[in-house]
Amino acid sequence: MSDAPRLAAPSETAPLLAVAGLHHWFGGLHVIDGVSFSCRAGAIKAIIGPNGAGKSTLFNLVAGSFPPVSGRVSFAGREVTGLPSHRIASLGVSRTFQSSRLFPGMSVLENVMAGRYARGRSGFLSGMLRLPAARRDERDARRRALETLEAFGLAELAGADARSLPFGRQRIVEIARALAAEPRLLLLDEPACGLNIRETERLGSLIQDIRSRGVTVLIVEHDMSLVMGISDEVVVLDRGSLVAEGTTSEVQADPRVVAIYLGDA
Ligand SMILES: Nc1ncnc2c1ncn2[C@@H]1O[C@H](COP(=O)(O)OP(=O)(O)OP(=O)(O)O)[C@@H](O)[C@H]1O
Ligand SMILES: [Mg+2]
Repeated sequence: MSDAPRLAAPSETAPLLAVAGLHHWFGGLHVIDGVSFSCRAGAIKAIIGPNGAGKSTLFNLVAGSFPPVSGRVSFAGREVTGLPSHRIASLGVSRTFQSSRLFPGMSVLENVMAGRYARGRSGFLSGMLRLPAARRDERDARRRALETLEAFGLAELAGADARSLPFGRQRIVEIARALAAEPRLLLLDEPACGLNIRETERLGSLIQDIRSRGVTVLIVEHDMSLVMGISDEVVVLDRGSLVAEGTTSEVQADPRVVAIYLGDA
């Protein structure tokens, strides 16, 4: 073997997620206005900004809920712009939503198992016919969901009706459901919304733990103590435009960010 330094493979240096020149309109409203940024593998990156800044829309564009009017999204070195959400999910992007979306009438375990199906290999037909591949997928989903619940300290609630849990627990179940698909990138849209201070602190530790397991985290959040406590980098959006990007101390010291948060922009 040669002692010469090994050139890094492109996948080791390229960001896990990159968005470039993204634009989106709703009706006449320019909601995302030329946004470009990237997120390296292994980071916790936050997207902050006032209500209506376009944060959730940006998540929807990354996750493939709808295609951007223009611009590009690439994930793990391949362009995913315009791919439907289930394709992007199968490539390794999972998300939670700003408002709770647990399935009614299903237990915690079933909700988390449902998150696994983005990864299942068997198709709809084999599921209907209970073919061996579908049964194997279901066994995998159950095992993996139980492991995730265990790791989150929720194992004893596996059989409970998910929607009957206290709100803070429901939010954690939603994160567990997103992780059951074993994503490389997890998008969290306001996970601390409605949580009390202690729950928010626990959520911060949980997100750091998720990152330490090798999952990159992109988080939209209004709770600044959480954002500043756990993020490696922060993107600031205002009225659809990226106004600042940097470390937590860089963005906190940025006069444009201060102006936005003091209502002075
Ligand atoms: N489906 C839609 N149709 C029309 N307008 C929309 C739609 N979704 C969002 N908008 C508008 O786009 C703008 C950005 O909304 P978005 O939900 O992305 O903001 P946000 O930064 O996530 O805000 P918040 O912090 O309140 O969640 C807002 O003016 C919103 O009213
Ligand atoms: Mg939002």
